[in-house]
Amino acid sequence: MYLENLYLANFKNYSEANVDFSKYINALVGDNGSGKTNLLDAIHFLSMTKSAFNSIDQQSIQHDKPYYSIIGRFTLAQNTIHVSNTLSLGKRKKLLIDKNPVDKAADIIGKFPVVLIAPNDHSLIMEGGEARRKYFDSIISQLDRSYLIDLMDYNHCLKQRNKLLKQFAETGKIDSDLVEPFDRILISLGKKICDKRRAFSKIYLTKLLKHYTYLADGKESINLKYLSKFQEEDFKQIFYESLQKDVILQRTNVGIHKDDYLFEMDGYQIKKYGSQGQQKSFLIALKLAQFDIIHEEKQFKPILLMDDIFDKLDDHRIQKLTEMIEHHEFGQVFFTDARPERTNHFLEKLNMEWKVITVDNGNLAVQE
Ligand SMILES: Nc1ncnc2c1ncn2[C@@H]1O[C@H](COP(=O)(O)OP(=O)(O)OP(=O)(O)O)[C@@H](O)[C@H]1O
Ligand SMILES: [Mg+2]
Repeated sequence: MYLENLYLANFKNYSEANVDFSKYINALVGDNGSGKTNLLDAIHFLSMTKSAFNSIDQQSIQHDKPYYSIIGRFTLAQNTIHVSNTLSLGKRKKLLIDKNPVDKAADIIGKFPVVLIAPNDHSLIMEGGEARRKYFDSIISQLDRSYLIDLMDYNHCLKQRNKLLKQFAETGKIDSDLVEPFDRILISLGKKICDKRRAFSKIYLTKLLKHYTYLADGKESINLKYLSKFQEEDFKQIFYESLQKDVILQRTNVGIHKDDYLFEMDGYQIKKYGSQGQQKSFLIALKLAQFDIIHEEKQFKPILLMDDIFDKLDDHRIQKLTEMIEHHEFGQVFFTDARPERTNHFLEKLNMEWKVITVDNGNLAVQE
């Protein structure tokens, strides 16, 4: 699967752009603020129906314009497919596949998969557990629909239980008969979700280790640990014993909504002890593991979007990435760089087809 052509109108700093891509390597080169990341984001829009960086769709419409339009021409198993994503001010986003309206985002997500490696991945290391849960939940949900349904049911039930806890706190009276049905659902769904998260993190770890060891030449050893109270033998008891505390705090304190994933290097938290380059390498390995998992599931390679990938990586690690690209581990690749000489140096050594696209203030030019 690859993106052959992209058309943009009034999308962020692109008034109008139309560009054909290489089915292998595409280098986007331009100064800071020229529109490199915006172009990757447009591709993310086509795949995931929304921005990777901006949760408010309207902010992707060019200032003072009434709409944006993104149209991509994909090749998938020898078929040409047009995907379009358009938003007019004050209207609902319009999604089309080959001119057929798509009502639910879920009907597009997963069809044209992308894996994005971007500087803001750093939040996966630095932020609290919610960011990591969300990251892994989104991958597992794309692979396993019943996981997504269980998770949605769990979250719905959690809300109801928290509402009840608030009532208990306000009236000063705990009615265990009322809370019991919610407890049972949270315990049984929570256990199912926990088991799947544990199994998934094991598979994920093997792929993560493979990529990190390769990138870092085995310099450091890393680990991914899944943490959940629901893994403990007496998790039911722990859950029930928390009721008093739950009423005082007016929220459920035990459950898989409190799970976390720990990222470690040589036995210590990467967040606290990893260097910038080590953290960046870890995040790249994390995303490449995601790439492998999607590849296995779909039987084709997702598009790889690498934003500012060279920053903070030493020559040795860049060389490793080059080798991975050369060994055809990836399919279509897009990467951005604000330093043309570094890109040229990188491409010169690459023994395969590539295209350099110069980005200048929202204008694209293919370098011949
Ligand atoms: N809705 C919008 N309308 C007009 N311009 C926008 C809009 N949203 C973002 N921009 C502009 O897009 C530019 C940023 O583009 P982008 O983030 O793609 O740059 P970049 O080439 O990746 O730069 P860097 O090298 O610094 O990462 C900024 O100048 C910003 O003002
Ligand atoms: Mg950028």
